[in-house]
Amino acid sequence: MAINNLKRHELDMNFGFLKDLTGVKETTTRKPSSIWKLLMLLVVGLCGVYVCMIGVDNRSAFQQFPRKTVFQVKQQQEEHVTECPKLLKSHTFTEHYPHPNTFDRAECTCTPVHTFVILSMQRSGSGWFETLLNSHPNISSHGEVFSAAGRRENFTLITETLESVFNLDWMSSAAKNECTSAIGLKWMLNQGVMEYHSELAAYFKQKGVSVILLLRRNSLKRMISILANAYDKKEKLLNGTHKSHVHSKEEALMLAAFKPMIDVKHLLHNLQRVQEITNDALQFFNGTRLLPLFYEDLLNSPSKMLQVQEFVGVKVQDLQSEQVKIHTRPLQEQIQNWDEVSRHLQGTQFEHFLQDKDYF
Ligand SMILES: *[C@@H]1O[C@H](CO)[C@@H](O)[C@H](O)[C@H]1NC(C)=O
Ligand SMILES: *[C@@H]1O[C@H](CO)[C@@H](O)[C@H](O)[C@H]1NC(C)=O
Ligand SMILES: *[C@@H]1O[C@H](CO)[C@@H](O)[C@H](O)[C@H]1NC(C)=O
Ligand SMILES: *[C@@H]1O[C@H](CO)[C@@H](O)[C@H](O)[C@H]1NC(C)=O
Repeated sequence: MAINNLKRHELDMNFGFLKDLTGVKETTTRKPSSIWKLLMLLVVGLCGVYVCMIGVDNRSAFQQFPRKTVFQVKQQQEEHVTECPKLLKSHTFTEHYPHPNTFDRAECTCTPVHTFVILSMQRSGSGWFETLLNSHPNISSHGEVFSAAGRRENFTLITETLESVFNLDWMSSAAKNECTSAIGLKWMLNQGVMEYHSELAAYFKQKGVSVILLLRRNSLKRMISILANAYDKKEKLLNGTHKSHVHSKEEALMLAAFKPMIDVKHLLHNLQRVQEITNDALQFFNGTRLLPLFYEDLLNSPSKMLQVQEFVGVKVQDLQSEQVKIHTRPLQEQIQNWDEVSRHLQGTQFEHFLQDKDYF
């Protein structure tokens, strides 16, 4: 049932996205009479005065953006347009022409850059997904930039960090070269995304930032992964070091040997909560250029990764990751109190999580 709901959301979303792409706006067809125009002018004028008087304290979506940076980027873009030859092929995404402070884009100065964010939840395959993306020569995705709480204390700090990433000035091992044409980061929903969702959705729309929402359908499996990862954080199974992701089968087997015990008292509530967050996120970012993506689909069909590259706007190629999946055994072998867990989920909307066939 839950899956059907998600699919419906996914469809709604794609529909909204197509509407955005074709630029259909109902209001453009209507012609306001001159009285209406006058009234509009008056309202706009009054709003302007109001905004000036209220000033910066008001925590509404647009006033939170640092004006200076917005203006600079705009100015740079305008400068650029006169410098570079007009592109024959225009993209479905918003084209940016960053002028990094830290280096020169050299021969790629006139290559448009696409900005994106990968929104996800812990243990949903986003680490693996990001290594796949970063194996493309023109994609840089900078990891969990906002895992540092200090960077998300308020929305101003968030936009400053985003501006730096999108201007290609952010340095991490994922930073590529002057020919990066898709720049982004990975961002967990509990790292300020849900908290600032309305500001962020407005910002993404205004700046033309695309959103990849990477979710995991089987949140029971996600729960196993969270528990196993927490256990390893404590026990450090691999020679005394904790690893969230591994690069060999041997390491994967060692980590997967741990069978967590699931707290059935809170199981249903926890699964429901994840479902709620998922639905909320789909709704909050509906209206941005959005690609809802499921980890299970990425694993099951290699063509999904082609669709992702098209969405991100890079030349499609084969992508590689060195990461090895940790939990590969049938679900009932991964949970210590399997019988108890399956009894609790029988007859609920989450019953299908127990059937392993369709899900990895
Ligand atoms: C992709 O990267 C390569 C290697 O840096 C570069 O030659 C090429 O121009 C880039 N393509 C785009 C579309 O930016
Ligand atoms: C945001 O947080 C930083 C660091 O704590 C602070 O310096 C700045 O004044 C804050 N800005 C707003 C608008 O609250
Ligand atoms: C653990 O350490 C031993 C000896 O130092 C080494 O041979 C082995 O490869 C290490 N194993 C892992 C999983 O890191
Ligand atoms: C997305 O937005 C469209 C149009 O605003 C709306 O009809 C649709 O119900 C929304 N979908 C979700 C999942 O909120």
